[in-house]
Amino acid sequence: MDRMVKFIRDRIMAALSPTALSPELQARLSTPLQIGNLEVKSRVLQSPLSGVTDLVFRRLVRRYAPESMMYTEMVNATGLHYVKQLPKLMEIDPNERPISIQLFDCRPDFLAEAAQMAVEEGADTVDINMGCPVNKITKNGGGSSLLRQPEIAEEIVRSVVQAVKVPVTVKTRIGWSDKEINAVEFAQRMQDAGAQMLTLHGRTRSQGYNGSARWEWITRVKEVLSIPVIANGDIFSVDAAVRCLEMTGADGVMCSRGTLGYPFLVGEVDYFLKTGLRRQPPTPIERLECARDHLQMLWAYKGDRGIRQARKHMTWYAKGFMGAADLRGKLALVETQEQGEELINRAIAHLAQQGWQTEDASELQLVEV
Ligand SMILES: Cc1cc2nc3c(=O)[nH]c(=O)nc-3n(C[C@H](O)[C@H](O)[C@H](O)COP(=O)(O)O)c2cc1C
Repeated sequence: MDRMVKFIRDRIMAALSPTALSPELQARLSTPLQIGNLEVKSRVLQSPLSGVTDLVFRRLVRRYAPESMMYTEMVNATGLHYVKQLPKLMEIDPNERPISIQLFDCRPDFLAEAAQMAVEEGADTVDINMGCPVNKITKNGGGSSLLRQPEIAEEIVRSVVQAVKVPVTVKTRIGWSDKEINAVEFAQRMQDAGAQMLTLHGRTRSQGYNGSARWEWITRVKEVLSIPVIANGDIFSVDAAVRCLEMTGADGVMCSRGTLGYPFLVGEVDYFLKTGLRRQPPTPIERLECARDHLQMLWAYKGDRGIRQARKHMTWYAKGFMGAADLRGKLALVETQEQGEELINRAIAHLAQQGWQTEDASELQLVEV
């Protein structure tokens, strides 16, 4: 489509859009995000998601959000210590920047050692997971259980900061339970120990992923910290991101479950924050085309294991059109790349017959990594 027509269309969409950036927010977010000595040109981050944010997924997110910070899936430092070999989880593409490797554990010495391995692999920052609610992790003293052991959490940050030259960051929750909300004190301790950025998921460990994220706690933490604070929890749309940034005063937002089957989200929010304009959302056909790319890339990267992992991704993409439920049922059972591709191709052909347009795909700013 001609550039002028696109410009006018974007203007109309912006005018119709229920959310606009306040001048204060626009001014606040117009500068790069400074994480210690690292400058990041986007204030929208793709969260670490175990079982999801592998190199393939990150490549897809980066097509639409070339300047955003991404995270690997979390990696166990004890495992690294004993195996002394980088797992595939930690593999990063030399061209994918900025990138953080996320570690979890409760042993400061193992975490320091793992952080050095992460930096050798090319991590721009090392993030310590202090928010994971899963029993298997917390019963061994890692993830959100560190919220109840702030002295150990502090020791971890100090020891990792000493071990590496890149910025060390922390991702955590607002507390263990409603009776044990300690986000403000905990965040302050992490900053004092040397953390260069804090990402706060506005839920307690007891909440898991239920109920709403309580952004008011992010506001309180932002008020007391001098390092950047990134807001996380329930950022499922551009509007939610803007509301959260306005309410919390946070330095950036991190998208998580909203990106499952939707690697466009980080780019959509980033584009809006930078321009005040909305990117046209992908049509169901474009989403399915992305699902097909995802499947092909996972197959190329991980073989049969990639196909098993691709099932869940493909079902997340197949949404929002007649026949989607039926397609999801079939995609959940595919055994080979060919089967998956055939199902997706047939669904695309069917949607095209119904008149879904694909032309806008060419307008997205695609960046190959
Ligand atoms: C499937 C899944 C895997 C996750 N894996 C990680 C992880 O490896 N490290 C981490 O810090 N958080 C992890 N999280 C938490 C998210 O990064 C995020 O903090 C949480 O989902 C809240 O954001 P949301 O409400 O926008 O989803 C995971 C969440 C989900 C749903």
